[in-house]
Amino acid sequence: MRLLAIETSCDETSVAVVRWDNGRLFVEKNFVASQIKEHALYGGVVREVAARRHVDALYPLIRATEIAPDGSDITAVAVTPGPGLIPALRIGVEAAKTLAWAWKQPLIPVHHMEGHLYSVFLPDPSVPSEPELLADSWFPAVCLSVSGGHTELLVIHGHGMYERAGNTRDDAAGEAFDKVGQLLGLPYPGGPKISLLATRGNPNAIPFPRPMIKSENDDFSFSGLKTAVAVYLRSHPIRSEQNRADIAASFQEAAVDVLVTKTIRLAQKIHPASVLLCGGVSANTRLREVLLTRLRESIPKSIPRFAPLIYTGDNAAMIGAAGVFRFLRGETADPLTLVADPN
Ligand code: KG4
Ligand code: ZN
Repeated sequence: MRLLAIETSCDETSVAVVRWDNGRLFVEKNFVASQIKEHALYGGVVREVAARRHVDALYPLIRATEIAPDGSDITAVAVTPGPGLIPALRIGVEAAKTLAWAWKQPLIPVHHMEGHLYSVFLPDPSVPSEPELLADSWFPAVCLSVSGGHTELLVIHGHGMYERAGNTRDDAAGEAFDKVGQLLGLPYPGGPKISLLATRGNPNAIPFPRPMIKSENDDFSFSGLKTAVAVYLRSHPIRSEQNRADIAASFQEAAVDVLVTKTIRLAQKIHPASVLLCGGVSANTRLREVLLTRLRESIPKSIPRFAPLIYTGDNAAMIGAAGVFRFLRGETADPLTLVADPN
């Protein structure tokens, strides 16, 4: 089975061809056209600009996959209808509907966060021999899914069987990184820049709060942490590059501490076969490092599996991966009625 997958939920246009063969997943093509440089001029994503750029990029990327023009070498078309920015989502959804209709092929809608979850099961090109991905032995799994729009703790009982244990009550983790980046005078998106700057800073320089770290539930809150950085900067304006790096490292340490502590606590309750990490923020080196260390100390029997670095950000390969399992379950949509859904 070969799937054409399309992702246009935010500021990356992505098209992939994913093959499912003998119980294994192969990423044949995964093209990502990023618009970040353009949105950085405005300090954040401008949805109408995003939609226009998706129109410009989508068809050249589909053509670049070299699939047959009549779709004869494709089994189905997968697309994310949401969550995301509605004008952006619509471009991918309308293209996928048209192709599926014209090619008389099944159309598979994939929730964007389900796509992020399946990114952990994509083969990592930087690892020579991978364990058997997608086997049932990975389940039950606890998954920390952290992106620009979502921060969720999930319990995954099997393919397509998800339970949301925790969620953010306000800002997503990535949103907090981006807003603190702005406060520190860093260009959009702040996440990767904070992560880099923090490598030169002292994570214990400023004791920023760890919101909800002790609460009994599995929810998160990041707006208070962002406000704590803003309040600190009001009375302690940045004095030097070292000082900027110390603030970045201290903020990152607080955010990572909360994310990891709550993931470990849930995993200690569930005793999952594996602990998964995905989403844009999962590219954060410190998060990966601390989660790995604390998992090995506290629940060594659970296997850690983190999204390969090239698939942490938005990409269509992850939509294709989740799409394969939806297709196998017969979860297809009518090309005439599927609509983009921002939530
Ligand atoms: O998953 P993603 O690409 O898009 C959404 O679905 O939101 O996540 C983007 C988010 C942005 O907030 C970005 O700043 C953050 O992921 N991010 C990072 C890092 N790389 C990307 N945050 C912290 N450290 C990083 N290295
Ligand atoms: Zn995403």
